[in-house]
Amino acid sequence: MCGIVGYIGHREAYPIVLKGLKRLEYRGYDSAGIALYDGEEIKLSKTKGKVADLETRLENEIATKGTVGIGHTRWATHGVPNDVNSHPHYSNSGNLVIIHNGIIENYEPLRQELTNRGYTFTSETDTEVLVNLIEDVKTKEKVKLGKAVQIALNQTVGAYAIAVFDRNKPDEIVVARLGSPLAIGVGENEYFVASDASPFIEYTNNAIYLEDGEMAIIRRKKGVKVRKIKDDKQVDPYVQELKMNLEQIEKGGYDHFMLKEIYEQPNAISDTYRGRMRVSDGIIKMAGIDDHIEKFTNARRILIIACGTSWHAGLVGEYIFEDLARIPVEVEYASEFRYRNPVIYQDDVVIAISQSGETADTMAAIKLAKEKGAFVFGICNVVGSSISRETHAGAYTHAGPEIGVASTKAFTTQITVLTLIALQLAKKKGVISTPDFHAHLQELERIPEKVAKALESNEHIKEVADIYKEASNCLYLGRGFNFPVALEGALKLKEISYIHAEGYPAAEMKHGPIALIDEQMPVIVIATKKGHYDKVVSNIQEIKSRKGKIIGIVTEGDVTVKGLADHVIEIPETMESMTPLLTTIPLQLLSYHIAVMLNKNVDQPRNLAKSVTVE
Ligand code: AGP
Repeated sequence: MCGIVGYIGHREAYPIVLKGLKRLEYRGYDSAGIALYDGEEIKLSKTKGKVADLETRLENEIATKGTVGIGHTRWATHGVPNDVNSHPHYSNSGNLVIIHNGIIENYEPLRQELTNRGYTFTSETDTEVLVNLIEDVKTKEKVKLGKAVQIALNQTVGAYAIAVFDRNKPDEIVVARLGSPLAIGVGENEYFVASDASPFIEYTNNAIYLEDGEMAIIRRKKGVKVRKIKDDKQVDPYVQELKMNLEQIEKGGYDHFMLKEIYEQPNAISDTYRGRMRVSDGIIKMAGIDDHIEKFTNARRILIIACGTSWHAGLVGEYIFEDLARIPVEVEYASEFRYRNPVIYQDDVVIAISQSGETADTMAAIKLAKEKGAFVFGICNVVGSSISRETHAGAYTHAGPEIGVASTKAFTTQITVLTLIALQLAKKKGVISTPDFHAHLQELERIPEKVAKALESNEHIKEVADIYKEASNCLYLGRGFNFPVALEGALKLKEISYIHAEGYPAAEMKHGPIALIDEQMPVIVIATKKGHYDKVVSNIQEIKSRKGKIIGIVTEGDVTVKGLADHVIEIPETMESMTPLLTTIPLQLLSYHIAVMLNKNVDQPRNLAKSVTVE
């Protein structure tokens, strides 16, 4: 998730674009850049690091004159964060510059075609391919920039929000969006472009939000012309008057980053599998796995090491890998693993999971495993993070920056990556039938819409939260794939509402925790129709007979648990191995609403840090 900003009008573009980038740093902050047109030529500067580093560089490097400019703060998806890979990108002629938020999935074949036609590339990015594709079309078809963008985009597959301008026609900026947000600020003979309204809300509250599949040609004097990318049909732009303040805009209109990130999960999951699976062809493509496939298929076992929520995702991974790929898995707390003198074999494969990619315990565990000769694979959310660079190979979750300390979209995207890996290994080992493999891909592709459906219970969950917000303790129970989700739900409640909560395997309740059950104890039971449903129903009956208060997370349409529990929260039906992607949603919302009702600092809970870079 990157941030893009653009300006064309009567003011100096530099201060507007630079400040706009600072406003968008929450969207991504591993590199930044600006391109300005000063009336004669394009001045471009970009650097790895934060916008402040770019500002320092700009003060010493380029004249910052010009009334048209574009800027970008990057959250890397293709190519590690460095100066060359940061945006804006020039076309080969130096006439066009572009900034881009999104992923062009078919950039490799396009790059090959352009290379064959004599184009050269300085970066590893999909964005540099796109700007040269636009230039190639413009030159070959002898068309204006807007038409060239429209033709070029119809040759791409993926997601984008772009802004591009031509030094030979500096009185216009062309923008387009598909799958990534783009807003146009409409001022008096001046126009702003940004990923959201925060960069221009202080100049104008009139905005056009492009719809997916739309593009716009923005001219200094002639205003905004909106078209459909697909067929170039003109669209009447709807200019709306924004009522949100700056802080609300940065949170996407949500009250907290945590809630925004809970609601981003459908997109985060689809962004994570995008470009890695082709359902129609029934294939998975993950370079980090495919290039080392023998290590995995010949592994004596897989060791998953992580902390906190990432450890819970790893535990879901254990159930998925053993069920689908039939590979023995052990999940270890990194903080324990690093000190207990573990047995590590050279034919072990270690998977290290970390949202931040900076957790000290996980990093130390990785180094220990490498010293013992194990192959270490990383699953991180921050491109270029320490752990992503320390591991032998890896796969990124494409969740975008996770600002809330309580991890939400990182958890579901980590499980998405683990599911893709398990399916790929199962296929390579020949332990899954082709129809079953296809069925899993088709179901994974339906998960984002099912997560969106689960989010629709938000108001009902808020009512349940209001009933139990004063509880002193809570018990979370789950079986099989949902035992780790019970642990994760308990952690969410603990870390943002400060209510004590425990997650337990449902069947283990009779070995102790059942002594805790009374009418003061809310028990959240994950009772989806898959797995050992009847056994969970018996557990619920045991709780009911001891007057426990039961909140059931059930498959939509369930009547049995509905007849027993005090409250039920429904989730859509899905495959057993994918239920964690859905059952975690109501638990995230429940903890969020309880914490808000208790006036806790949801995004920065006491005593906690987003990344634990110390022991
Ligand atoms: C989860 O909500 C917490 N913020 C915490 O447990 C976190 O998952 C843990 O510190 C691991 O962080 P990482 O994924 O960045 O390594």
